[in-house]
Amino acid sequence: MRLSSIALYLGLLSHVFAWQMPDDYPISPSGNGRHFVTKKGDPFFWQADTGWLLFHRLNLTQVETYLDDRASKGFNIVLAVGLTQLGDEDPNRNGDLPLLNGDPTKPNEPYWEYIDTVVQMAWGKGIRIAMVPAWGYYVHVSNNVAGSINASNAKDFGNWIGKRYPGLPKLLVADTNPYWTNKTAVSSDYTSGGVHSPYSFTDYIPVYDEMAAGLIEGEGANAQITTHSTNQWFEGGPIALASAFFGNKQWLTFDSSQSGHSNYAPNAPIPWWNAAKGYEPVELMYATKPARPALDNEAHYENRYINGKPINPYWNASDVRTGSYQAVFSGAAGLTYGADNVMQFYIPGLFTPAGSGPAISWATDIHLPGSSQMQYIKKVILDRSASPLNRIPDQSIIVGDTGTDGTHLVATRDVDGKWLAVYTPTGAAFTIDTGKLQTGKKITASWFDPLDGSYARCVWNGEGKSVFTPPTNGTHVDWVLVLEVQ
Ligand SMILES: *[C@@H]1O[C@H](CO)[C@@H](O)[C@H](O)[C@H]1NC(C)=O
Ligand SMILES: *[C@@H]1O[C@H](CO)[C@@H](O)[C@H](O)[C@H]1NC(C)=O
Ligand SMILES: *[C@@H]1O[C@H](CO)[C@@H](O)[C@H](O)[C@H]1NC(C)=O
Ligand SMILES: *[C@@H]1O[C@H](CO)[C@@H](O)[C@H](O)[C@H]1NC(C)=O
Ligand SMILES: *[C@@H]1O[C@H](CO)[C@@H](O)[C@H](O)[C@H]1NC(C)=O
Repeated sequence: MRLSSIALYLGLLSHVFAWQMPDDYPISPSGNGRHFVTKKGDPFFWQADTGWLLFHRLNLTQVETYLDDRASKGFNIVLAVGLTQLGDEDPNRNGDLPLLNGDPTKPNEPYWEYIDTVVQMAWGKGIRIAMVPAWGYYVHVSNNVAGSINASNAKDFGNWIGKRYPGLPKLLVADTNPYWTNKTAVSSDYTSGGVHSPYSFTDYIPVYDEMAAGLIEGEGANAQITTHSTNQWFEGGPIALASAFFGNKQWLTFDSSQSGHSNYAPNAPIPWWNAAKGYEPVELMYATKPARPALDNEAHYENRYINGKPINPYWNASDVRTGSYQAVFSGAAGLTYGADNVMQFYIPGLFTPAGSGPAISWATDIHLPGSSQMQYIKKVILDRSASPLNRIPDQSIIVGDTGTDGTHLVATRDVDGKWLAVYTPTGAAFTIDTGKLQTGKKITASWFDPLDGSYARCVWNGEGKSVFTPPTNGTHVDWVLVLEVQ
């Protein structure tokens, strides 16, 4: 009798104290709207890993292995999903379903208690979870049939999520856009090419607005919210950026694109974004007013076949690294890395592989080299401790052709000219105009190695337009030049 009442008491406690947001958990946009800061005002560089099915497909031992690995590589955010793309009839590793009777207003407590445990464990290792409350699937399925979350219940669902998970940045609805059409039909048009009749769209904006209103009601006005768009893959609506749909909404506090995993040649009628030009959507977001922190929140995954097709090679570490440097130097507030087998937590014998890359256990692919190299992108920015929050993109530093795709050069600098940095994906000699640096002071020059985060001295005593020749060159031999006023 006594024992069971203690158990009941503990049960209630664990329920009531499910997720108590630590005071220093929230991040928010910096004063200039370009970056994230912690509660204390310290710069927070978003270094995210994509772990969509983390809550769903791993048991707690495995969650710990995963988080330890990511924490050791400097990741400070993991993207993970509440109501997953696998649907509400797919149980987690404990056998629990997310909802009772598939009703988004009736969460199944044990499922979310497990999520609480994972969120807590991640924080213990210095990792915040950016949560997707519900995958796009719950708003509509790919052929545009309405899902279980709609304008009548989205607010209740959002309110529940907001109350339960305050402080976690939210990617409202994932891998879709609020103007949707029949994807199956568009895909078959794309495959056959040629002319098509105009698509008719369904406008799901009211569902997004209701869910966002619910989140804010549940967690308060500091809720950090974006949407996670698809890659741009059909014409006719706004382009696939969170701000293109919701730029006029108060609830949108940070911006996001998905440059995705494809590099199809521009092939009318469907203008897929080329994943090797992920810097272009970043430039578009950077140019949008009001300023919001911008992220390429799904760039080509390491070890995913180009275009998701096994006939192609897969994106490797240097592809991923180049895309991430290009996005960050073009003004992104950080980077989101992903590995194809890790985002889905593929376990041979237990799950069906997505087929978009070679089927290798997540436990092997957490060790892919790109995952270790992402931390150096954060390092080269935060090492400019004078002013990482005053950083702006500035292509005018580069003299001449900046190249495209995997050879595109990018430059960024302190707004007051205390430092500048240029990323080259090829190591070929390039010319820059150093006129934006403060004059009359000693300037040190160094080569930063994207493979290990080390600096080597760069001999330079010049001013004005100068040619810089990196230590080595070749396809995918990348370097960062850093000039800093002492
Ligand atoms: C987690 O799953 C792995 C295999 O998939 C197993 O070896 C391990 O014992 C499990 N741990 C727990 C706590 O269930
Ligand atoms: C939302 O879904 C519920 C449950 O299926 C339904 O009763 C309600 O009418 C729907 N509301 C809208 C606006 O479609
Ligand atoms: C979507 O398009 C496919 C292919 O054209 C078609 O078979 C299917 O019926 C369409 N679905 C809806 C709901 O319109
Ligand atoms: C990665 O792939 C590119 C081709 O996209 C190739 O040039 C490069 O050598 C590869 N890098 C590594 C480290 O294998
Ligand atoms: C690449 O390096 C070689 C050897 O140092 C040098 O001769 C060549 O000019 C470099 N190429 C470019 C494009 O900088």
